[in-house]
Amino acid sequence: MRRILLAAVAAIALGGTALADTIKVGVIGPFSGPFAIQGKNFKAGIDAWTALNGAKVGNDDVEIVYRDLPAANPAQAKSLAQDLVVKEHVQYLAGFYFTPDAMAVTPLLEQANVPMVIMNAATSAIVTKSPLVVRTSFTLWQTSVPMAKVAAQRGIKKVITAVSDYGPGVDAETAFATTFKADGGQIVESIRMPLSTTDFSPIMQRVKDSGAEAVFAFLPSGPTTLGFLKSYNENGLKQAGIQFLAPGDLTQESDLPALGDMALGVTTTFHYSIAHDSGENKKFVAAARTAIGNPAELSFPSVSAYDGMRVIYKMIEATGGKQDAKKAVDAVKGMAWESPRGPVSIDPESRHITQNIYLREVAKAEDGTYYNKEIQTFPNMTDPGLAAAK
Ligand code: PHB
Repeated sequence: MRRILLAAVAAIALGGTALADTIKVGVIGPFSGPFAIQGKNFKAGIDAWTALNGAKVGNDDVEIVYRDLPAANPAQAKSLAQDLVVKEHVQYLAGFYFTPDAMAVTPLLEQANVPMVIMNAATSAIVTKSPLVVRTSFTLWQTSVPMAKVAAQRGIKKVITAVSDYGPGVDAETAFATTFKADGGQIVESIRMPLSTTDFSPIMQRVKDSGAEAVFAFLPSGPTTLGFLKSYNENGLKQAGIQFLAPGDLTQESDLPALGDMALGVTTTFHYSIAHDSGENKKFVAAARTAIGNPAELSFPSVSAYDGMRVIYKMIEATGGKQDAKKAVDAVKGMAWESPRGPVSIDPESRHITQNIYLREVAKAEDGTYYNKEIQTFPNMTDPGLAAAK
């Protein structure tokens, strides 16, 4: 009793500054269902951030409120976001694995006075839908342009593309084709696959029949990408000498144990490898592995979530914990830091992350585990997709 009284007196003496608010951050992602590992990686990145930086900004407590969205479902995304804003009073919205979900929520932001920090959804146009969107992941334009350059440099002349038929797939196809053709290459056929496709054998037959020297592919990371790469191997395309070109979504680390030697030597372009050699990354990976529990499940959405939290903490600091979405977003324009992926910054105009893109090759470590070995760097890339859209 005496101690409580003393504490109360001390708080009054401090002029009430000891009064702390709780700032809520609503995170929407796939936490159950076939893409649950991707959502688990959002949470691992967020937990790694709080483990290393605490759950407070100044005097304010930061609380994360998770909402599960197992598959791309714009209507459900919108209602979850509304619920988080109206009932939970979140000051920030974050997460968003699939593009259609992020797109469905952007019209709510201004009226709700809430910034959105995208931790995955990778279609270029999302950031143009609201001035309150900031993205810490990547775009398919950022990752696919370097892959087209590499293909041309390797002397490949004829490519067939195969992409999931929605935003990021169309971006990947356009980015690859535009760049590859400008470098003298030819696209012999462009296949668009429904998101629900699980049997890829007919696609592999079309690839074989097309006469292409290589297939460029994009599907959203998850059971889809695992199935596609398995099918490429099992249908004899590798043996037939048809090369496999893709952004790193196709060789995410959590798929590598199941792919085993099938993935060996596959080259991809991406913003992040868990094997990135830096002190910042070692610190992150140690914390994120502890957070996720099973180290083999750690994958790329964790790093965008971790960096997304850095951005949100900066926003909270800049607004003194007050709800002011515009001021929050303005505060992170031009923000630069050393991410576990390498040096990054938030482009002040697009609010998308500027970063290195790496060419990587799946290799086997001495302990028998597989990893994405970085072999070339395309430094400081802004999003070429935004320039192309103008
Ligand atoms: C997306 O829907 O924007 C998306 C999902 C998974 C990926 C990349 C992009 O691996």
